[in-house]
Amino acid sequence: MSSDIPQKIIRPAAEPVSATPEPARHDLERLDRLATLGLFSASMAHEIKNGLVAIKTFVEVLLEKGEDRELAGVVLRELKRIDGLATQVLQFATPKPVVLGPVNVPVLLDHSLRLLEPKLRSRLITLQRDYRAAPETVLGDEAQLQQVFINLLLNAVDAMGAGGTLTAATETAADKMKISIRDTGAGIAPENLAQVFDTFFTTKKNGTGLGLAISRRLVEAHHGTIEVQSKAGRGATFIITLPLA
Ligand SMILES: Nc1ncnc2c1ncn2[C@@H]1O[C@H](COP(=O)(O)OP(=O)(O)O)[C@@H](O)[C@H]1O
Ligand SMILES: [Mg+2]
Repeated sequence: MSSDIPQKIIRPAAEPVSATPEPARHDLERLDRLATLGLFSASMAHEIKNGLVAIKTFVEVLLEKGEDRELAGVVLRELKRIDGLATQVLQFATPKPVVLGPVNVPVLLDHSLRLLEPKLRSRLITLQRDYRAAPETVLGDEAQLQQVFINLLLNAVDAMGAGGTLTAATETAADKMKISIRDTGAGIAPENLAQVFDTFFTTKKNGTGLGLAISRRLVEAHHGTIEVQSKAGRGATFIITLPLA
């Protein structure tokens, strides 16, 4: 795959010597790993979801009978969380085809930001919009692009704790649109920078490590690129580049 991402930003610096040109070999290996992992995790997630149905029914009966209400409530909450995780894995492992249409990016960004508003308010995070791209439209799958924006926005909020500024920006560069999500949070340690897009890479206690892997896959299905710039302690900026409509 050809890409104009500065490769060192998202790739490990040292790679074993190989006859195949570097980007091609790396992408092939990644595709192969993802295909195997995808098949494996899809069937596993499917089995887990099936099993959860029986457990959920049982716990609901307990709740109805009023037995061990508190414990049953906790178990039900955890069940929902596991079910959500399994759904995410399934969605990741069986990607839907891209349904292309004109997508107004500032409108979609605003829509995504609105969903996060309560979270932003409770964390005292200042929101900044800097929409400069003209035209404002890319050819894309609105639902998938929204999933990408939300993944990036949630990560930004996670990184910030209380206070700070979240910036959503667009600009035009040649025949492409650049969309950036910038935060003033903890940033990414240099040793982690090469791994943040890897499947299951997470530094969070309750993280899945799927958000950025899914986002990269979706953006690449749009013939776009995603890269990150960050210094530990100085926030992070994720930049998506998409072809204009
Ligand atoms: N805006 C950000 N600031 C700092 N670190 C980030 C940011 N976005 C992602 N990361 C790092 O990348 C990791 C992977 O992110 P992601 O794939 O969304 O999984 P998760 O959010 O479940 O951990 C995070 O655990 C975190 O270490
Ligand atoms: Mg995430």
